[in-house]
Amino acid sequence: MSPTPATAAVRVRRAELSDLDDLVALEEATFDSDRMSRTQYRRHLDSDTARVLVASANRRRFLGTAVVLFRKGSSVARLYSIASKPEARGKGVGSALIEAAEAAARQHRCRTLRLEVRTENHNAVRLYERLGYHRIGHHEHYYQDGSHAWRYEKALA
Ligand SMILES: CC(C)(COP(=O)(O)OP(=O)(O)OC[C@H]1O[C@@H](n2cnc3c(N)ncnc32)[C@H](O)[C@@H]1OP(=O)(O)O)[C@@H](O)C(=O)NCCC(=O)NCCS
Repeated sequence: MSPTPATAAVRVRRAELSDLDDLVALEEATFDSDRMSRTQYRRHLDSDTARVLVASANRRRFLGTAVVLFRKGSSVARLYSIASKPEARGKGVGSALIEAAEAAARQHRCRTLRLEVRTENHNAVRLYERLGYHRIGHHEHYYQDGSHAWRYEKALA
C-alpha cells in the first residue's frame, strides 16, 4: 500500500484538542511569518466564529489543516489558513480541505468564501482558481515579511 493516501482515503473532520501538537508542528514547518501560535489555535478550537478542520488518513494520520473564520452578522467567511504536510502534497488533501471549508461556511449561512494568498504562491493560486475562486484584489505588503497578496473569493452555491 502507498504510504500516502489517494484522495478517496482523505477524511476531513473538526479539529480536537488532541490535534494541537500536529497543528502547531505543521504551522511551524510551513510558514516563516504570520504564524498562528498554539494559544491562537486553542482559542479557535473553542470559538463560535472559527472552524479548525483536520484532514487525516484512516482517522488518525494527520495530513493537513484549514482554518475558517466567521463574523457575526456577515455572510462572508474567510479561509484564514490552509496547509498540508509536505509529503502529502499534490494528492488532493488541499482540495478536500477547501471543500470542507466551503461546507463549513455554508453551515454558517455564508454565501461567500474569501482568502488571501501570496502573489508568488503559484501552487496555491492554481489550486484556488481550479476550484472556482476569482481574483478580486491586490494588497501591497500584506504579510509580515512584506510579501504582497492576491485576494480571492468564491460564491457558495
Ligand atoms: C497549497 C497547499 C495547501 C495545497 O495542498 P495540496 O494537498 O498539495 O493540494 P492538492 O493536492 O489538492 O492540489 C495541489 C495542486 O498542486 C499540484 N501539485 C502536484 N505536486 C505537488 C506538490 N508536490 N506540492 C504541491 N502541489 C503539487 C497538484 O497537482 C494540484 O494541482 P492542480 O490544482 O492543478 O490539480 C499546499 O501546497 C501547502 O500546504 N502549501 C504550503 C502552505 C501554503 O502555501 N498555504 C496556502 C497559503 S494561502
